[in-house]
Amino acid sequence: MKPGSFVAYPFATISLILACSAESRPFDSILASFNILSEQSPLRDYIMGTPSEQVSTGVIISDVIGKTQNIAIFSGLTRDIDTVSSRLDNAAQNATVLAPDNSVMRNLKRKPWEDPEDYDTLGANAYQGSSGEDRARANLERFVQAHIVAESPWEEGKKVKTLSGNQIWWETKDGQKMIQPANVKVTSIAEKVSNGEIWVLAGTLT
Ligand SMILES: *[C@@H]1O[C@H](CO)[C@@H](O)[C@H](O)[C@H]1NC(C)=O
Repeated sequence: MKPGSFVAYPFATISLILACSAESRPFDSILASFNILSEQSPLRDYIMGTPSEQVSTGVIISDVIGKTQNIAIFSGLTRDIDTVSSRLDNAAQNATVLAPDNSVMRNLKRKPWEDPEDYDTLGANAYQGSSGEDRARANLERFVQAHIVAESPWEEGKKVKTLSGNQIWWETKDGQKMIQPANVKVTSIAEKVSNGEIWVLAGTLT
């Protein structure tokens, strides 16, 4: 078993949770499973070990995205969205993953599968029933895709489209990488592997 693979487990159930519990609070139960993994643990230190400045050859994003604990919530969502997980698992297609950290994901004003317009047009039951589940799933997919850029290396100032079709770029302000136009800080680069990089964000891009 790879050291990071244990963290993948809680997310295998997200589709099931999404599908089964329109009335309970599915996201909260995912978050609950994360509260048991503390931010500072010997295991985390072991897994995080040496921050990777050099590119690990042969290793791809899907191999490593589960091992960075401070983005575990977002990385779990990437594994659950087929269009994204297949992309990150493709050694021939580079990507830059812009992963909001766990505290950002915990403090979202609305769940990543909620869209205020759905509530406006459909009311409080917007995510109930099978069409509601489809709607939630499509919104979740768009949320995750809005945090994946289909190229790496990604040069400063270069305008690129995310997998959801939004145009973004990054620039350096006071020595700090900022994703624009959302003006979201990149707090670290968690991984550099053969098909791309994983950047950790202090906010979301939607
Ligand atoms: C993909 O990423 C690797 C590692 O950074 C890089 O060497 C390679 O040139 C990239 N390929 C493309 C098509 O951008």
